[in-house]
Amino acid sequence: MVTRTVDLRSDTVTKPTEAMRAAMATADVDDDVLRFDPTALSLETELARITGKEAGLFVPSGTMGNLISVLVHCDTRGSEVILGDISHIHIYENGGISTIGGVHPRTVKNNKDGTMDIASIEAAIRDPRGALVYPTTRLICLENTHANCGGKCLSVEYTDKVGELAKKHGLKLHIDGARIFNASVNWHQAETAAHFIGPPVLEDGFTPRNGSALGVPVHRLVQAADSVSVCLSKGLGAPVGSVIVGSKTFIAKAKILRKTLGGGMRQVGILCAAALVAVQENVGKLEGDHKKAKMLAEGLNKIHGITVDVASVETNIVYLDIEENSKFTSEKLCEYMEEHGVLVMSESSSRGMQSGVVITKLLISFPFGLFLKDTKTLVVGYSSRQSSLGSGRITKYLSCLNSLHKFSLGMLFFQRTLQVLLFWSSFLWVVASVGACFGAWASLHAHHASSKCPK
Ligand SMILES: Cc1ncc(COP(=O)(O)O)c(C=O)c1O
Repeated sequence: MVTRTVDLRSDTVTKPTEAMRAAMATADVDDDVLRFDPTALSLETELARITGKEAGLFVPSGTMGNLISVLVHCDTRGSEVILGDISHIHIYENGGISTIGGVHPRTVKNNKDGTMDIASIEAAIRDPRGALVYPTTRLICLENTHANCGGKCLSVEYTDKVGELAKKHGLKLHIDGARIFNASVNWHQAETAAHFIGPPVLEDGFTPRNGSALGVPVHRLVQAADSVSVCLSKGLGAPVGSVIVGSKTFIAKAKILRKTLGGGMRQVGILCAAALVAVQENVGKLEGDHKKAKMLAEGLNKIHGITVDVASVETNIVYLDIEENSKFTSEKLCEYMEEHGVLVMSESSSRGMQSGVVITKLLISFPFGLFLKDTKTLVVGYSSRQSSLGSGRITKYLSCLNSLHKFSLGMLFFQRTLQVLLFWSSFLWVVASVGACFGAWASLHAHHASSKCPK
């Protein structure tokens, strides 16, 4: 019987810690629509400090944070935004930028690493001389880490280049930094950081409370951006909320739009108190999430029939590919895993929710059956805030998959043996039937011949 559950569905399926609940219970609050709530102001100031921007604004969700940011930058009708074709804003946010904001999306192909080719971005910028017929490009959006690309991190170098391009053409740059803290602690960033800011150091813009060193400080990662939307309710484990940051002018406009969209809340300090705890206590734990995600990906990749692009697992998302010919659907696999106390989510069912945590994508192929054609993808989100998945539990998870795989091989063997037996018995039956027919015909022929004998 399963007594404990390992929940790998998403980095959004966290529960507030005791410290968060205590902070919420004792939070100093006031009316935040009137901008009097001290806890909301503290959180906004802290996020502005960490990201190196002038001001911040608490919003109920990452989706609203992105929507408000895009609408502030594109406040003239007929505006166009350039964004990745599999970016969160484009795919999973109900097309809000166009349905609510009247902003036209111009997509550029996202590469596997979450980038868009700089040349392609430049080619997508509208020529202002064609303004009679074209929409006007006003904004470029990046996503760091890039969820649909498996939690890949955009480098400082790349972000700076896009920033330069934006400036050259008089455009703004917004970063959907739902998981910007994950990008910040990423090892890969630490390597490239040396080229830009010297070796990894603790800087003013970010002061970890738990002594863990950062790859690249958040403020450096987003230096080129005019605005950033940062989620606190993903791997950081806060129950609700995001903060958007930018210039004072940007935030003043954002405040009005937040009210328009119904995102102005009164004693919101209750939520901001938990978010402050998340920032203070959980950023240092992300590195551990990434290590576990990598360990899980490497282990899964050793299981025959499962494909994981291990190199792509940089943060907290793992995708598993299920082999094309597998009879095992991702839904069936999810059910099986659930029976064994491990919750995962198939990509199709994740469309309505955010795959999040630091384990990004797991692609698992199961040779359970023979004849189904579609490739199945499982998305596994992971947050140590939720399930405290230690190495031991990863081993358990892997062994669970292993036994499923062995079982599937057994079934395959059984199926193949049955096929062989069926083939030979059918063959023998046909031979026997033909033989019997031939025998009957021969005896009839002999009888006929003997009945024709002259008397
Ligand atoms: C990259 C990215 N941006 C934005 C969001 C939206 O966040 P929310 O679910 O809080 O609206 C998500 C959610 O997972 C996300 O993954």
